[in-house]
Amino acid sequence: MTFAATDALPLLRPPHFDMLGGRDGVTRLVDAFYRQMDTRADALGIRAMHEPDLASTKAVLVLYLCEWLGGPKAYSAERGHPRLRMRHAGFAIGVAERNAWLACMSAALEEVGAPPPLQQELMAAFFKTADWMRNTAT
Ligand code: HEM
Repeated sequence: MTFAATDALPLLRPPHFDMLGGRDGVTRLVDAFYRQMDTRADALGIRAMHEPDLASTKAVLVLYLCEWLGGPKAYSAERGHPRLRMRHAGFAIGVAERNAWLACMSAALEEVGAPPPLQQELMAAFFKTADWMRNTAT
């Protein structure tokens, strides 16, 4: 059997988790993400949904993203199925909130120096998840 050169590419590419620098890289990304949320005017509304002290929120997002990016499955082990839509049901999330979340993540990916193709791929995936979290009419 012969393979075209492109067939092997997905196998050669490391998991997203490794491309972002493993757990340390994901921790830097989450720190940058919440720093953005703490400082951007367009994120004031979603920042107010969070506790003043972000330490435990950051720790959970690190676990979640490590697993989602193909790293260790500690989130599921500790917290079970993510059920993200259900866990966000208590917060009013519309287009503005979705866009603010995505703007923080996009700036954070840029800040940690993620390669542009990886940024684009991850932002497309984040868009789908964030859009699915919307629970208001606007
Ligand atoms: C669309 C806009 C979004 C808003 C406004 C939002 C807001 C929030 C808030 C207020 C919390 C609670 C934090 C806490 O209790 O400490 C939370 C938890 C969380 N969010 Fe979001 N979020 C959004 C999108 C997303 C997306 C796209 C993801 C994943 C890619 C995500 C992943 C998580 C996770 C993993 C948790 C913790 C869940 C748990 O308790 O196990 N969120 N979010």
